[in-house]
Amino acid sequence: MARRCLAVILAAGDSTRMKSSMSKVLHPVAGRPMIAHVMASIAASGITDVALVVGRDAERVTKAGSLDGMAVESVLQVERLGTGHAVLMAREAIARGYDEILVAYGDVPLITPAPLMAAREALADGADVAVIGFHTKNPSGYGRLLVEDGELVAIREEKDATEAERAVTWCNSGLMAINGRKALDLLSRIGNTNAKGEYYLTDLIEIARAQGGRAVAVDAPESELTGCNNRAELAVIEGLWQERRRHELMLSGVTMIAPETVFLSHDTQIGQDALIEPNVVFGPGVTVEGGAVIHAFSHLEGAHVSTGATVGPYARLRPGANLAEGSKVGNFCEVKKAEIGKGAKVNHLTYIGDAFIGADTNIGAGTITCNYDGVNKHETHIGAGAFIGSNSSLVAPVSIGDGALIASGSVITKDVPSDALAFGRARQEMKTGRAKQIREKNLGIKAAKKAGS
Ligand code: UD1
Ligand code: CA
Repeated sequence: MARRCLAVILAAGDSTRMKSSMSKVLHPVAGRPMIAHVMASIAASGITDVALVVGRDAERVTKAGSLDGMAVESVLQVERLGTGHAVLMAREAIARGYDEILVAYGDVPLITPAPLMAAREALADGADVAVIGFHTKNPSGYGRLLVEDGELVAIREEKDATEAERAVTWCNSGLMAINGRKALDLLSRIGNTNAKGEYYLTDLIEIARAQGGRAVAVDAPESELTGCNNRAELAVIEGLWQERRRHELMLSGVTMIAPETVFLSHDTQIGQDALIEPNVVFGPGVTVEGGAVIHAFSHLEGAHVSTGATVGPYARLRPGANLAEGSKVGNFCEVKKAEIGKGAKVNHLTYIGDAFIGADTNIGAGTITCNYDGVNKHETHIGAGAFIGSNSSLVAPVSIGDGALIASGSVITKDVPSDALAFGRARQEMKTGRAKQIREKNLGIKAAKKAGS
């Protein structure tokens, strides 16, 4: 029978070093709160029962951590007395009787399911505590794993460590699995006689051993276990996440010429054979189909780009931009909440908002859909095969029929039927020789001024 596991996620920690008005675990990585990353990984490892220990911003943290399909019960840690104390806030849930208790931290967001599974397996193999550790060149601030003869004998916090112990580079990620039948007894034995005067969860190792149990450490990559205590570390974590996701996308068939300059969101989807040029930023909610090209310096959010469509360079796609197959949105164009039909072209210096553009329509340079009257937004509908001359303003609500032609420089305020030609500008007048007369007059004025001075 499958072993039942309760995840206890600690998210009540102090955020002082973040210098922030919100809880640390709400800070986003790839546009998603850290706590949601942790929860997603817990869910992906097959755990559905979660006790979330919250403190500051309790409601927001609970909301951010409550992913679909998970039974998340949040418990409040009013006084922040340490990680051991925090786990005990979930006492009631733990007492319901689980085979395993898995402790994870809300500020260690890059964890993947593999190390969680490895720690749980170590319990199945007879350990009472299995700690997830990582090797690092920069152990400063982390608890050190003290190992003798292959057994984990203690975790020493930096502040309590001797110089020799500080030289150890195998560190505690903070994540550990505990025998669920013994967890309450072991946790209740944690004291607070240490440099910080806190109840350290890490004391569990020595306690378990003193009770005749075994503790082990399992190793996992540092890139998954980096913790966040300040914004410099937040940036490191963001960088690691970006690197990991770009790598996955490239291995799945996406070409990136300079991957280190491409920024993704937690939910960015890009299909096989898409090409992403340098310096492209993806905000949340973007899907790019296979074979699409995103040229350099483009910014996309909430947008869909279909097969064979091209975007940029220097394009901005805002929420609701939906580019059909083979369409083009070129340089210095902004598209918001608009359908760009199959093969349609919006190539230069244009704003398209709250609009529908039919297949194969061409939108000339400098065209603006005037969608906002200062109070309400209005729609522009353009049929298929239409041609909008350059520098036209389409004052919404307005509708332009299939195959219609708009003369360049027009201000269009009335609907244009299919196949009609619409002018919305002053007629051109011609005065033969008049330019020459004006020039000569002006040259005369200039010469008179010079003579008088
Ligand atoms: C902790 C570990 C350290 C480990 C490091 C990994 C202890 C004593 N130390 O140190 O060995 O290397 O994490 O990042 O466990 N929290 C609460 N309530 C509390 C205290 C903490 O919810 O009263 C939560 C925090 O939100 C955070 C986590 O527990 O998610 C770790 O707390 P933090 O204060 O950052 O511990 P560290 O000193 O970094
Ligand atoms: Ca920490």
